[in-house]
Amino acid sequence: MARPECLECIRCRQEYPLDALDRQCGRCAADGVASNLTLRYRAASVPRREELGAMSGSLWRYAAHLPLAADKPVTLGEGMTPMVVVEGFGHGPIRVKDESQNPTWSFKDRLATVAVSWARGTGARMIATSSTGNAGAAAAAYAARAGLPCVVLTSKGAAPAMVSQMRAYGAMVVAVPAMDDRWRVLSQAVRELGWFPTSPFFGPAIGSNPIGIEGYKTLAYEIAEQSGWQAPDWCVLPVCYGDALYGMWKGFEDMRRWGWIETCPRLVAAEVSGSLAAAADHGMDMPPAMPRNSASVAASIDTNRGTYQARHALKESGGVAVALDDGALIDARDRLAAGSGLLAEVSSAAAFAAVDALGASGTILPGDDVVAVMTSSGLKDFGASGIPQPDAPEAMPDLESVLRVLDDAYGCRG
Ligand SMILES: Cc1ncc(COP(=O)(O)O)c(C=O)c1O
Ligand SMILES: [Zn+2]
Repeated sequence: MARPECLECIRCRQEYPLDALDRQCGRCAADGVASNLTLRYRAASVPRREELGAMSGSLWRYAAHLPLAADKPVTLGEGMTPMVVVEGFGHGPIRVKDESQNPTWSFKDRLATVAVSWARGTGARMIATSSTGNAGAAAAAYAARAGLPCVVLTSKGAAPAMVSQMRAYGAMVVAVPAMDDRWRVLSQAVRELGWFPTSPFFGPAIGSNPIGIEGYKTLAYEIAEQSGWQAPDWCVLPVCYGDALYGMWKGFEDMRRWGWIETCPRLVAAEVSGSLAAAADHGMDMPPAMPRNSASVAASIDTNRGTYQARHALKESGGVAVALDDGALIDARDRLAAGSGLLAEVSSAAAFAAVDALGASGTILPGDDVVAVMTSSGLKDFGASGIPQPDAPEAMPDLESVLRVLDDAYGCRG
C-alpha cells in the first residue's frame, strides 16, 4: 500500500487531516470555488513497473498505489476490464475500455471497493450515499460484501433496474423529494450520526469521497498497461461530478512522474449540461450552473453544473469538454450496440457521441489513438432511456410462418 499523509485541496494545496472527509476546501470556498480534497501520500522511492508482478484478477494488482494493503480490501474482483476495438466513431477504429464488465456492471465499483474498504478499516458503522443509480448500486454491493448496512437516498423516478439492484444487495433505499433534500439529510446524518458518505452530500457539488476517487487511478494504470505503457492520445469519459475524470488524470500523472509513460493523454469530458465547456470558454475555475428546461435522457450524468476537479483535470491534460443532446446520445448508443455488440447505458454512450463530435470538428485527427470509457451496461437503464421494448412479433411454429414474419417485421428475406 501507499502510505497516506493527509488530504489536500486540489486547487490551492491547503492541507487537511485524513478524517476531513466531510468538507471542501474552506480557503477556496472563500474565493467562490468549491474544490474537493485529494489524498497525498508520504514520500517514497519511485516505484518501478517491473514491481507490479504478474497480472492478477482485480484492480488490487495496483495496491502499492492505493491507500490500503492488498490483503485488506472489500473486493468483488473489480477492474482489469477488457479493451475492445470498435469502428464507426470519429475517424477510424477506437478502443473501448468496457467497464460494464465490473461486478455491479459499472465503473463505480472502482470507487466503492476503495471507499468501503477504508470505511471498514476506520470503523464506520453505516455506508451512505445520495444516488439515483450506479453509485448507489456499487455502494450497496460493497457494503453487503463488508457486512455493513447501507442507506441510499434517492429520487422518485430513478431507473427501476438500479433501485432493484440496490434493494437486492440489502441497501435501505429511501426516495426524498429533491436533490437538495437528499444532500441536506445526508449532511445532517454525516455530522450527527457519523454515517460514512461515498457520494457528494452538499452543493455546489465538489465530487465524491476523495478516498474512493483514488480507485479511479487504476483506470489509468490499466489503460497504460493494456497499451504497452504507451499513453493514448485521448481518453474520453462521460462526466457528471468528474470523479473518474479527476482520478484517472491523477493516475496518468503518477505514471508520468514515475517515468512509466511519457505523456498524459488529453482527457475529454462528455457532458450534458455544457457547464465545463462554458468554464473553458470563459476561463472560469468554477464551472457555472447552466439553465436547463428539461431533464436529459442520460439520468446518470444529468447535472446542470460541473465541478472544479473535472475542470482541473481538463485544464492540466490539455483536454476538452463536449456538450451533447439526447439525440446524439441515443444515436451513439444504438450504433454502438448494433455495429459492435456492446450495449451501453445511454449516459455511457456520451463518450462515443463526443468522439463523433471531436472527429467532425477536426479536434481528434485521423490516426489518433482514442480510448473511450464505456462506464456502464445498457441493461441498467432499459425502459428509462428509450431502448425499445417491443414484444417479439409472433409466428406460427413452422419455418414458412417465421420467414413471413421476418419479412413483414424486419424486411429480411431469409
Ligand atoms: C454510467 C455513468 N457514467 C458516467 C458517470 C459520471 O461519473 P463521474 O461523477 O465520475 O463524472 C456516472 C455517474 O453517476 C454514471 O453512472
Ligand atoms: Zn483550496
